[in-house]
Amino acid sequence: MDKFRIEGGRPLEGKVTIGGAKNAALPAMAAALLTSKRVVLRNIPRVRDIITMRGLLDEMGADSSLKGERQGNRLAIHARKIPDPTAPYELVKQMRASVLVLGPLVGRFGHARVSLPGGCAIGARPINLHLKGLEKLGATISIEHGYVEARADRLQGDLFHFDTITVTGTENLMMAATLADGVTVLENAALEPEIEDLAALLNKMGADITGAGTPTIRVRGVARLEGAEHSIIPDRIETGTFLAAAAITGGHLILECAEPRHLTAVMAKLREAGVEIESRPATRGKDVTQVIEVKATGPGRAADVTTQEYPGFPTDMQAQYMALATQAQGSSVITETIFENRYLHALELARMGADITVDGRRAVVRGPTRLSGANVQASDLRASASLVLAALAAEGESVVDRVYHIDRGYERIEDKLKRLGAQIQRITED
Ligand code: EPZ
Repeated sequence: MDKFRIEGGRPLEGKVTIGGAKNAALPAMAAALLTSKRVVLRNIPRVRDIITMRGLLDEMGADSSLKGERQGNRLAIHARKIPDPTAPYELVKQMRASVLVLGPLVGRFGHARVSLPGGCAIGARPINLHLKGLEKLGATISIEHGYVEARADRLQGDLFHFDTITVTGTENLMMAATLADGVTVLENAALEPEIEDLAALLNKMGADITGAGTPTIRVRGVARLEGAEHSIIPDRIETGTFLAAAAITGGHLILECAEPRHLTAVMAKLREAGVEIESRPATRGKDVTQVIEVKATGPGRAADVTTQEYPGFPTDMQAQYMALATQAQGSSVITETIFENRYLHALELARMGADITVDGRRAVVRGPTRLSGANVQASDLRASASLVLAALAAEGESVVDRVYHIDRGYERIEDKLKRLGAQIQRITED
């Protein structure tokens, strides 16, 4: 398993390009199952989850090709026929987002067999609402030998209210509804930018979706969908992670190809914590993109954070914020409201000298504490980002183990950090 060896204490300086959003690319790839025509996706991040999803689609019978481009990668997916609408356990257990094939398969083929994802380090993460929603649209669902069997002659549009706001649940049902007979209304839908991006792709494919990005999404079913070309939105969590990296190392970064409108809560919280952040338009070739400049202007201030569904402070930035809070003057109270077990990074940060008390959903971080380099172990994607941030700020050498977690959502993060002045290297052990 690969590790990172990091020598901390160096401020990060320079420019970094933000990649495409993993959590927008994954549902977009699943959406390609809804049509027999080719779908071309640009600005695809080359991260492990994308490779896993591509493997799943190929195994089901879709053709795909991936080629590098100036900004990101170009992924073409052609699901002419899907002889075997099955998502096997071996792939789903690697990446729970595989459940995103469920809606498209039932919507287009009337049949899907998808392994239940099982638990994960940060929580139980059931998919009961995905299944309840498909049943409301007329699918018959059975659970056999750890697999969900979903069947429907043709889904029927209906009203479905989500008891809990769920990102992939909203995405699954929105995709399934595009080919249903009649109109579907999804109430209490997730508002994430990734939902809007998926709806934009689906509408380019000929779907009729309104309201994406609001709590009520309306989908008028159509007979079939066509191919399309779409560029994935920037990754707002990678953006937030680099903002935190500049702050925790006392550095100064320019983030290119970012979308500041997708992380207003994160930027507001970091400004409250004393970080200087400003965004401005920039031209990159013929494209007008956004640039975010971030500068640490002295010791940070403590600031409380409660994670919430979008547009609130994202749970996917909680671990990174916790690392930063260890350097702030005062106590920061962090409340995690989305997942029940998302503090595994706290124990590892404590091994580096952090003063953190976890009590159920709440964690109190007392700062500033001097962090010293240590051997630490990553437990999940965002926890590993948190440990890398802490190691960049710590005195001396750290070794972060099990970095395959970080490779799931960050494209060669060590190369990006090295170019910004970090002393980081990947140790590959077979
Ligand atoms: C998405 O996961 C993201 N993954 C997660 O990012 C992110 O942390 C999460 O949304 C919350 O923002 C992708 O988009 C691929 P949920 P998802 O369904 O959709 C409960 C990362 O780091 N729930 O919004 O699986 C659930 O237990 C990953 O990139 C049900 O009870 O999360 C949780 O408490 C980690 N029943 C809450 O809803 C259901 O049927 C939110 O989960 C579905 C969800």
